[in-house]
Amino acid sequence: MSTITNNARRRFMVQSGLGLLALSGMPSFLQAMEGMTAMPRIAPRKANPNFKADVEFDLYCKPSKVAILTGAQTQVLQYSAVLKKGPKETLANIPGSYLGPIIRLQKGQKVRIVLHNDLSEATVAHWHGLHVPAEMDGHPRYAIDPGATLVYEFEVLNRAGMNIYHPHPHEATASQVYQGLAGALFIHDDEEAKLELPAGEYEIPLVIQDRLFDEQNQLIYVRNMHDRMAGFYGDHILVNGRPDLKIDVASRAYRLRILNGSNARIYKLAWDDGTPITVLGVDGGLLEQPEVKAYVMLAPGERLDVWADFSGRSVGSQLVMRSLAFTGVLPKMAQRMGNMMHANQLPVGSDYPIFTVRVTQSVSDSPKLPAQLSSFARYHINNVANPEKPVPIAISESPMAMLLNGRAYADNDVQDFERIKVNTLQLLEIFHAHGGMGMDHKVGGMGMGHKGGGMGMGMMGGMMSMAHPIHLHGQQFQIISRSISSDKTDDYETVRHGFIENGLKDTVLVMPGETVRIIKPFQDFKGLFMYHCHNLEHEDMGMMRDFLVE
Ligand code: C2O
Ligand code: CU
Ligand code: CU
Repeated sequence: MSTITNNARRRFMVQSGLGLLALSGMPSFLQAMEGMTAMPRIAPRKANPNFKADVEFDLYCKPSKVAILTGAQTQVLQYSAVLKKGPKETLANIPGSYLGPIIRLQKGQKVRIVLHNDLSEATVAHWHGLHVPAEMDGHPRYAIDPGATLVYEFEVLNRAGMNIYHPHPHEATASQVYQGLAGALFIHDDEEAKLELPAGEYEIPLVIQDRLFDEQNQLIYVRNMHDRMAGFYGDHILVNGRPDLKIDVASRAYRLRILNGSNARIYKLAWDDGTPITVLGVDGGLLEQPEVKAYVMLAPGERLDVWADFSGRSVGSQLVMRSLAFTGVLPKMAQRMGNMMHANQLPVGSDYPIFTVRVTQSVSDSPKLPAQLSSFARYHINNVANPEKPVPIAISESPMAMLLNGRAYADNDVQDFERIKVNTLQLLEIFHAHGGMGMDHKVGGMGMGHKGGGMGMGMMGGMMSMAHPIHLHGQQFQIISRSISSDKTDDYETVRHGFIENGLKDTVLVMPGETVRIIKPFQDFKGLFMYHCHNLEHEDMGMMRDFLVE
């Protein structure tokens, strides 16, 4: 075992306050720790002179200070960018925010991005949602050292949609994102442009995050094992880096582009006056038709495109986007423990405001909501390469280990069922593996139980079961089915109507007891594409794996 591994292990042990007792008593903890190995590094990629970029910019990540709360400024990490070539609308800063600039690209553009690491630790940037070659995807193997640069070159193949860029270094994604490294990345295309949806000042990006501050206004991060197990929750909701965000609008239709950029917090979005949410799109862009929902669940990594029509509202009126109460995200015991340990925290699933819209101007003219938004091919089980044998994504939690398919993340650890033939459409099944040993053979010889009650770990699994936003790199997928085991329905009722099944997704919230079937294309590019929990603490604990597309 390398020095780095030992250091990582020691650091983890110290932070988590665990002693030998935990180590000897928890084999799965050891198993998880085995994942904590050094990543091999691939020499930073240089520019290819034959790649003719339409758009080119430098992307810097560095420490910075911003005013978030009143009083002292907060130390953060921040992306900034300088455009070298291309339309000037490509980059837009969010004034006063620690968030990186908003990046806007057009489908078909060839893009060169030069990442400069001005941090004191390794980093790499990942374009969450984009369909790019494996070596452009920001896999942790491509992380660069402080002072180094990394060149990305790719063509924009995605349809219009809101995506995210954020760091993806081995075991440090969560802390770097938490300290501020994240930004919104929009793709636009002709199909979207034809709709003439609200744009310019009428299209508002909203990145929702939560943070915890100390008395000096500095960010507090993971304090103990509980913070890691449950995921880290702050007690301030920030939108675009601002607490208590107020948006001034005219009495007309707007397009709100919402991204959950929180490390762990799941929101149940709803307007406070009962106005339903009109959904235009999700992670992978526009739906075929708008959908009207009483509320929408939004888990870390997920995006939501909302039509918000303030027509007819009087000047001076307000509308608040809230997160409504729901249950079942955390095991009851963990929830109680969290509330006890951190009395001031805003528990996940409580009811609280997120941002306020104030109507400050009356106008008579407003665009109309299009009845048809887009069209895309619907994937069907008859078209997948593996209709009888879904690729498994088995979620398992134990007090010390967050695993997928029974394994913690490790480099060069691709299992047979994680090898995927390029240019195929695959059926995948995401489920909770809480059963006993050997109850199911689909994860070949690893003793993964599927929906089994089981003994031992089964009980533990039941107690521990929590919600996980599962994210797959590469092309977006379609949700084929969701099913819930009958013992979880009370909690499930509080979220059931908040899922949008009809769009293209790259992140799906899987509730306790839930099994989700998806169909995903693996086209064009061979290589390693990750799948992981987008609860970023879980991801860094090892709840992440690679698919090898070959
Ligand atoms: Cu948004 Cu692999 O991540
Ligand atoms: Cu991603
Ligand atoms: Cu998780």
